[in-house]
Amino acid sequence: MLYRIVTYGCQMNVHESEKLAGILELRGFLPAERDSDADVIVINTCCIRENAENRILGNLGFVKKLKEENRNLIVAVCGCMAQQDGAAERLKARCPFINIIFGTHNLAEFGAYLDKAMAGKKVSEVWPQEGEPAEGLPVKRGEGVNAWVNIMYGCDNFCTYCVVPYVRGRERSRKSELVLDDIKRLLDEGFKEITLLGQNVNSYSGTDADGNYVNFASLLEQAANVSAQKYRVRFTTSHPKDFSDEVIRVISDSPNVPEFIHLPAQSGSDRILKAMNRKYTAADYLGRIDAIKKLMPDAGISGDIMVGFPGETEEDFLDTLRLVESVRYINLFTFIYSKRRGTVAASMDNQIDRITALGRFQRLVNLQTSIGLELAAAAVGKTLEVLCDAYTAKTRLSRGKTASGKIIWFKSDTELTGQFVNVNVTHVKNSNLYGELI
Ligand code: 5AD
Ligand code: SF4
Repeated sequence: MLYRIVTYGCQMNVHESEKLAGILELRGFLPAERDSDADVIVINTCCIRENAENRILGNLGFVKKLKEENRNLIVAVCGCMAQQDGAAERLKARCPFINIIFGTHNLAEFGAYLDKAMAGKKVSEVWPQEGEPAEGLPVKRGEGVNAWVNIMYGCDNFCTYCVVPYVRGRERSRKSELVLDDIKRLLDEGFKEITLLGQNVNSYSGTDADGNYVNFASLLEQAANVSAQKYRVRFTTSHPKDFSDEVIRVISDSPNVPEFIHLPAQSGSDRILKAMNRKYTAADYLGRIDAIKKLMPDAGISGDIMVGFPGETEEDFLDTLRLVESVRYINLFTFIYSKRRGTVAASMDNQIDRITALGRFQRLVNLQTSIGLELAAAAVGKTLEVLCDAYTAKTRLSRGKTASGKIIWFKSDTELTGQFVNVNVTHVKNSNLYGELI
């Protein structure tokens, strides 16, 4: 029996799909090369913006055709879109061919649902509330050098535009010893990069084996010191209001933690930040960047910015452009505000028209493209530490990632995947770096 998993959305979903794959493989399923070969198709969904939902609904149209060709095909739909209020009913009405619907809070039950579906029953079960983090699920990790490790789930911030607190529930942290045990085991298995995952990692609030409180700075420090071997510990995502001096010090002091921070600003306008319920001002945000640069002048910063939030004026948008210019992001994820059912911003009566939002989006992208190119060009001539993650024998090209997460290509006679090497950057093409192995 063969399976396919189609994943939409963030790294949390990517990692949860590894757990779904683990559950399937424990039951003897193997990955299918093509959708049309699969006996089970799982669609792990996202609902952060409307375009994610539209793509998923489009894909379900395609899956319907597969189901017409193979009546025994089992179709499962899970994840954030399925977790939304009333979504299971809407999905059932629109796509009656789906066999299994479940949400984010009952992912651990997937195996039992699969057994029922194999016995010919339909399953639609979405738990309204989160429970304690599920431990001990099998995980079929993706190939490569990076392994994901959950440290906390959920979000309590309720930014007014965001569905995450509604579909992922309240914050809960895993025990620190479980996190550290996972990291040790993954390093023993040969992974070279560990990414700590949470919707808001800086709010991590766990306990150690003796029941003592452990904050994120302490967890990160311990995560970076579980083994004497060389490895990288990354983490995502951070909220600026919780990004403490202590965390900055740990990053700066730990050779295993790359000097690279993803810190979403969302906007550069205090008025809009307040309406978004972000709980910081543009000056607070820039103060965090200054604190990072003071200890780590070469730190790479990436971020998320949204345009077209309800009530955003041209002046607000210019504040955002000023913030982007002053931070100089190595990488910026740019979004157009998307109205999400059930959020506070969805009922604001000053929604921005699409043409204005699109125009601002394009101006933001243009600014960031030129900053990104300048930063990439400034890397030429520098020697960077690179973790190799792929090799093509035919072209003798190795691929790796720099500390700040940039892809770099270089020639090597042998495969170096999983090794740390030094590469001298020689040129930039399409925002990718190219270099020579030292
Ligand atoms: N519309 C557009 N972008 C959004 N994001 C979250 N919610 C929305 C929304 N309703 C963006 C934020 C967040 C990133 C993961 O997605 O910038 O940081
Ligand atoms: Fe959404 Fe805000 Fe929580 Fe991030 S911090 S997941 S944007 S509510």
